[in-house]
Amino acid sequence: MKILVTGATGYIGGSVATRLLEAGHHVVGLARSEPAAASLRQRGIEPVAGTLNDYGPLQRAARAADAVINAAQADNPFVVLAILPQLSGTGKVFIQTSGSSVVSTYDNGEYVDRVFHEDTPVTPMPEKATRVAIDEQVLRAALDGVRSVVIRPTLIYGRGIGVDSSSVQIPRLIEQALGGVARHVGRGLNVWSNVHISDVADLYLLALEHAPAGSLFYAENSEASMKTAAEAISRMLGLGGRTEDWPIEEAAAVLGPGAHLTFGSNSRVRALKARKVLGWDPKGPSLLHEIEHGTYKDQHRRRDA
Ligand SMILES: NC(=O)c1ccc[n+]([C@@H]2O[C@H](COP(=O)([O-])OP(=O)(O)OC[C@H]3O[C@@H](n4cnc5c(N)ncnc54)[C@H](OP(=O)(O)O)[C@@H]3O)[C@@H](O)[C@H]2O)c1
Repeated sequence: MKILVTGATGYIGGSVATRLLEAGHHVVGLARSEPAAASLRQRGIEPVAGTLNDYGPLQRAARAADAVINAAQADNPFVVLAILPQLSGTGKVFIQTSGSSVVSTYDNGEYVDRVFHEDTPVTPMPEKATRVAIDEQVLRAALDGVRSVVIRPTLIYGRGIGVDSSSVQIPRLIEQALGGVARHVGRGLNVWSNVHISDVADLYLLALEHAPAGSLFYAENSEASMKTAAEAISRMLGLGGRTEDWPIEEAAAVLGPGAHLTFGSNSRVRALKARKVLGWDPKGPSLLHEIEHGTYKDQHRRRDA
């Protein structure tokens, strides 16, 4: 199949694009600069020049593709509005990358025992309302003859296999701990579901091949509190597993206001449908193992050397 991937130079899109190539697909990737286009070409991905705002090229590329995967900006309604009508009535696959932060709340590092699965209604915080509205619009496109799918990954970790191999959350926590103290927002009792990047890439491939129109999937294989993640970072950096509480206002000043609904929140979901409907069988190493003994340790060692 010929598959258009937006975000093909990014962490998720890059890994998904690589997995698609491995499975024998022809991948076309949106590239917003010549160096980005060159890096895609080098990997066997056909670049198409443009940004998410260049609707003409994007729409032409979508029409010319057998399937489209949007892995660029989960909160951008306009790209979805531009692409979906191009696929209307074709039965082609459209996969929208969303994220499990749609269930996040302002928890300031405290534990919340609320767990979501695909059929649990979500009432998002205002910051996440657009993302949920986009997801709903994508799912509704099934009624217009699009085999539309929404995937909500949780905290993704591990080294990607595409152009950009590094995710955001864990590397940022490691970065701040390099100052000598591993921190978590508040008491760090808040819990995030998580999933290894290679399992995420497998899920996209399965969804492309088998997902029924109008499917929503969470991508999750375990969960961990931010405190246990910080403790693993501390051990990995030789800080003896010691961590410190971090008042949310201070964390947000360093990590940005998004820290409230990421590092300070709970985002606990179960990927029931991916396992049941698609037979998804995630196998990646656990988050805590990956931090202490996996690629993050290697990266840190290389930087130290
Ligand atoms: N990583 C996670 O753990 C995670 C979990 C759940 C959901 N998500 C969501 O999934 C999406 C992708 O995440 P990611 O971690 O893969 O991000 P990323 O590594 O930053 O990649 C973003 C990709 O989108 C492209 N892009 C951004 N703005 C663009 C624009 N205006 N026009 C064209 N291309 C554009 C980037 O291109 P350039 O290379 O040119 O910058 C890059 O290829 C995000 O919306 C994120 O919030 C991420």
